[in-house]
Amino acid sequence: MVVVQQRRATQASIMTETIAPSSALNGTVRLPGDKSISHRYAMLASVAEGETRISNYSSGADCHSTLACVRALGVGVEVDGREVRVKGNGLYGYREPASALDAGNSGSTIRMLSGFLAGQPFTTRILGDESLSRRPMKRIMQPLSEMGARIMAREGQYPPLEISGSRLRAIDYTPPVASAQVKSCVLFAGLFADGTTIVREATRTRDHSEVALREFGVEVQSGRGYVALTGGQRLVARELTVPGDLSAAAFFLVAGAIVPGSSIILSGVGLNPTRATLIDFLVNAGVEIKILDMGMRHGEPVGDLMVRSSEVKGGVIEKEWTAALIDEIPVLAILGAASEQGLTVRDAAELRVKETDRIETLAENLRRMGVQIETAPDGFHIPGRQRFQAANLDSFGDHRIAMAGAVAALRASGRSSIENAEAASVSFPEFWDTIRQLGS
Ligand code: S3P
Repeated sequence: MVVVQQRRATQASIMTETIAPSSALNGTVRLPGDKSISHRYAMLASVAEGETRISNYSSGADCHSTLACVRALGVGVEVDGREVRVKGNGLYGYREPASALDAGNSGSTIRMLSGFLAGQPFTTRILGDESLSRRPMKRIMQPLSEMGARIMAREGQYPPLEISGSRLRAIDYTPPVASAQVKSCVLFAGLFADGTTIVREATRTRDHSEVALREFGVEVQSGRGYVALTGGQRLVARELTVPGDLSAAAFFLVAGAIVPGSSIILSGVGLNPTRATLIDFLVNAGVEIKILDMGMRHGEPVGDLMVRSSEVKGGVIEKEWTAALIDEIPVLAILGAASEQGLTVRDAAELRVKETDRIETLAENLRRMGVQIETAPDGFHIPGRQRFQAANLDSFGDHRIAMAGAVAALRASGRSSIENAEAASVSFPEFWDTIRQLGS
């Protein structure tokens, strides 16, 4: 049985969760709406003409940061649980905000919204929390400056950003890092540009922006290694439903695989091929996953998944697989340690500039559990067949490190604790309740 206890410290928002090892996880998981898709729907709706209704909008704090930012730009936003209404006033319907926009912990908010801000006839300041204030922004400053916006940043590269928008010119841009956030930022700025903006990528990244732009009525050209759109197109308000978040599902896919006797169903999960590399990786690693039902919604494939406890072999993540699995690597590390052959991750220097340096925070938690890991500048190696000792873990303020720690704790020798567990609410506020229900 899983036992999760909550201890609220004096500061109301700081939480420690205690997790006891589990003998089996069984049940159906309701996932939050996909974080990537929720951001994009809200942003595009904010410049569309009319009222967009979004169902199953992510309950995560990050996506609510996006809503707060567009509201501060004068866009009507109503929230009723997972239902959101955004009343857009067209491409130039934003109002100059009275104060700085707050992107909180959300890299997607600051990077993608900057594309819209670059096309506005005013200056916007956008900032974030301590973690976001250390994340690199040159990757968006470079292309947006080439398009004609003026952007100032702390030490030339960190938030807060001050974006003075202008009439933009189209560019043909190849981002130096594989990043869907950068690609999206440039495409969104391209909506305000004269001419056709092209983004080229050697490594394919998630294509939710392209899919969503088309749903809002924008003509988008795409082919092998490029995506393009012409500026000045109108966006039309829509009624949309966000699929369940596959990156949130990942924690239960791994937990179900490594906790003996488990069988978990995850319903309505987004299975976009640019994200579903996760399923391919898990199946190759020996995890028993079945896709029970599959359909298409607003250009995004959606299906129900079932995972059962499995004999996991392990694997290697490198090259284009790394970019496709970047958010799932923390929990795949736990799978690796519990597997036969372990896990090797390469080409993953990006992990060092996520919400935390995920190579270091992951290694710290694993070492506290007595799990061996060798780190490298761009990855790590974890041998297989390892035992997890009960330990005091920390999220270090990173949602995916908190939830990966919880999955490891399910296999531990006794009760473990996860400090600063509230970090999970950035993408999955219901995570602790969900894991508790599965074990009962
Ligand atoms: C995201 C893209 C990825 C991912 C992030 C969400 C997106 O970031 O890590 O959690 O929604 O486009 P990068 O684009 O920086 O790789």
